[in-house]
Amino acid sequence: MLDLKIVIGSTRPSRKGPAVADWVHRIASSHAGVTAELVDLASFDLPLLDEPNHPAMQKYEHAHTKAWSAKMAEGDAYVFVTPEYDYFAPASLVNALQCLSKEWDRKVAGVVCYGGVSGGLRSAQELRLLIANQGMMPLKQTVPVPFFSGKIEEGTLETNEEMEKGLNGMLDELVLWGEALKPLRG
Ligand SMILES: Cc1cc2nc3c(=O)[nH]c(=O)nc-3n(C[C@H](O)[C@H](O)[C@H](O)COP(=O)(O)O)c2cc1C
Repeated sequence: MLDLKIVIGSTRPSRKGPAVADWVHRIASSHAGVTAELVDLASFDLPLLDEPNHPAMQKYEHAHTKAWSAKMAEGDAYVFVTPEYDYFAPASLVNALQCLSKEWDRKVAGVVCYGGVSGGLRSAQELRLLIANQGMMPLKQTVPVPFFSGKIEEGTLETNEEMEKGLNGMLDELVLWGEALKPLRG
């Protein structure tokens, strides 16, 4: 069984990310092979990287970094739920990823993205590059949610069979990679 952290990457007031992440969490909660936990990046209140040491040293001085590190270190696998800001992932998520280093190593990560016509895919591609550079295995099975704002009713994302099939397909692959990578971690 893999410990899967589903991370809400947007932290701004009035953000829509939680509606998308709630759906991911609901589907992942009944997916074989994972124990899914929804992690709200906003609740960690991470400032822009304010640690004096390189994160690979894991000599964190601040309680916010220690809390973020401890939560992410628990995970065997991640799904990052990201919006698209100017064809890129939000600074909140990029910063949170760069606050840590070893916590990510040899773990699998999938991306669920949302946006307008692009479904956030441009953001997802940039994010996959970053997470690969950090030692994670980025799945190719990204799940986009195009025109997402028209699909949210009272904070709930309206989904369909195709979307669920796509998400379950990504989770299937995540379980395979997650189990394969486990023995590679000391
Ligand atoms: C700074 C900024 C840049 C944005 N750039 C894009 C973009 O490149 N592509 C897109 O589809 N939507 C873009 N949008 C619209 C977002 O898709 C929309 O605001 C969405 O709700 C953002 O996710 P969030 O509410 O979880 O933060 C942008 C929004 C903001 C605030």
